[in-house]
Amino acid sequence: MDRSFVMIKPDGVQRGLGGEIISRLEAKGLKLVAARFEILPEARVTEQYKEHLAKPFFPGLKVYIMGGPVFLMVWEGRNVVSIVRKVIGATNPQEAMPGTIRGDFGIDIGRNVIHASDSQKSADREIAIHFRPSELTTYTRIDESVLYEY
Ligand code: RTP
Ligand code: MG
Repeated sequence: MDRSFVMIKPDGVQRGLGGEIISRLEAKGLKLVAARFEILPEARVTEQYKEHLAKPFFPGLKVYIMGGPVFLMVWEGRNVVSIVRKVIGATNPQEAMPGTIRGDFGIDIGRNVIHASDSQKSADREIAIHFRPSELTTYTRIDESVLYEY
């Protein structure tokens, strides 16, 4: 089954949106297989966002992401990477459609509540930054036999 890395950012945690976000992903039919709540060390923020190191917004992004605890998660499901990107919405919450997490809960691009991997390659890379293989659980959700057609 496919896996994606999802992170509720410090603004999402501090605004009490964790339960709502997890509910939306659970209700979609996706399966939570790993989670950790922590303040990220600088090395893992740099590794997570290494494609953005030279961008003008990176210093501010780093301060924001390290500014409080984040909720790190791995979600599993068929085509989970593209599904979660649609559920979270466009990077800029002002452009994100209503009904998406960023469209419903954010305003500024630099405070956009949540991260999700943008490709399967990114997902594999990001999961390995934050979780050991032994932390990824394997179980069957009781509704899987009716959630999937085949
Ligand atoms: P993320 O990686 O956090 O899921 O967001 P994303 O793929 O939708 O957007 P990405 O281009 O990867 O940008 C990473 C994060 O950097 C901040 N950002 N600020 N001020 C700006 O112009 C700007 N651009 C990006 C956002 O917090 C964005 O989520
Ligand atoms: Mg990104």
